[in-house]
Amino acid sequence: MLLPESGLPERWYNIAADMPNRPQPVLHPGTGQPVGPDDLAPLFPMELILQEVSEAPEIPIPEPVREILRLWRPTPLFRAHRLEQALGTKSRIFYKYEGVSPAGSHKPNTAVAQAYYSKQEGRERLATETGAGQWGSALALACRLLGLECKVYMVKVSYHQKPYRRSMMETWGASVVASPSEETQAGRTILEADPDSPGSLGIAISEAVEDSAGREDTAYALGSVLNHVLLHQTVIGQEALAQMELAGAFPDVVIGCVGGGSNFAGLAFPFIREKVSGKEIDVLACEPAACPTLTRGPYAYDFGDTGQLTPLVPMHTLGHDFVPAGIHAGGLRYHGVAPLISQLVLDGLVRAEAYAQNDVFASAVTFAGSEGIIPAPESAHAIHGAVLSALAADDEGVERTILFNLSGHGHFDMAAYDDYLAGRLEDFALPEDEIQRALAAIEPLPKPA
Ligand SMILES: Cc1ncc(COP(=O)(O)O)c(C=O)c1O
Repeated sequence: MLLPESGLPERWYNIAADMPNRPQPVLHPGTGQPVGPDDLAPLFPMELILQEVSEAPEIPIPEPVREILRLWRPTPLFRAHRLEQALGTKSRIFYKYEGVSPAGSHKPNTAVAQAYYSKQEGRERLATETGAGQWGSALALACRLLGLECKVYMVKVSYHQKPYRRSMMETWGASVVASPSEETQAGRTILEADPDSPGSLGIAISEAVEDSAGREDTAYALGSVLNHVLLHQTVIGQEALAQMELAGAFPDVVIGCVGGGSNFAGLAFPFIREKVSGKEIDVLACEPAACPTLTRGPYAYDFGDTGQLTPLVPMHTLGHDFVPAGIHAGGLRYHGVAPLISQLVLDGLVRAEAYAQNDVFASAVTFAGSEGIIPAPESAHAIHGAVLSALAADDEGVERTILFNLSGHGHFDMAAYDDYLAGRLEDFALPEDEIQRALAAIEPLPKPA
């Protein structure tokens, strides 16, 4: 189902305006008081800070941002006829495909907006972290298109496992370093304690934040979790609403995978607006059993990074020093999840399920063999959610309309498929005492009201 170029939304949708309960404020770790715009100004351009706290239902997308988004948007929405046949289901399965962006995922939707506002404010350079490399590639692309320098701290294990993601970023002009690095105090401290540290997203965030806070010409860019990032992704769901209408259908179930939560929010939030105004929709967030933030982490205040440099964020969390097992869905290996999604889970508007990676890859291979696209391991969690939902409907003797977000392709993840096909993938059942250990780190922090 294709939309014409004119189908690219003119506004972002801000779910804060429609939520029954707004998330609790983000707190300054020193004072325990809500952070204000001045606290955040060294890191982010003011337009993004204003979006972070905005309650306006819609925010206009600047025309120069729309002009760049038009390089790949509107993205297609497909009915997965061949997957339905492969499963033998009576349900209808649709998916929105974000892998058509130049970087291969939904991440450029916010990267372009963040680079644009940073440039408007006179910053010349952006610093960020990346896990699997999708976000770093997206920001490298956006900086290239807008004429900014880009510095990426890439989790060391991915830096070595995914050399072509690094080349991609470098082709777009970014400078990439393995994290933990010798370039920041946060990196040096970790390396002193553990010279062989494989790195983690939490550590790389500490490095990128320290880099940006120390330089006036540099803003920090985050690829998920924050309100403004989720906001920028809502072009996905707005397009999908129009495309489902063209298909003469409306979803009973809306599904996305959740790392920090941005692709899930991008598809789901415009549908949750419909849900809040009375439509019946089951909204399902899918996460890895090895990093079960929404299904097993409490709702608490926690740092966004390992080095405790960020403000305290109200969210479902496994603790800021939690280092998830080395599953292949690198983009889902984060200890927290967006406050907006955490609150929607608390309020019962979103539910969550966690899956083991071998089951996820089995669904990914079924999908690749029927629809043709080889999905990113992250996105494969949403595919697995859709497969389970269709099979459950058959068991119940009902027909459902299911819509999921295919957030990216897996062309740089073939080593993961190699491991799966050779039977080398391990499933990690997270022991309860490991969760309890990690949660001890947040014990002294303020508690949400
Ligand atoms: C393809 C893809 N999907 C999903 C994610 C998870 O991030 P988020 O939850 O912010 O969408 C990532 C993160 O790197 C990703 O690369």
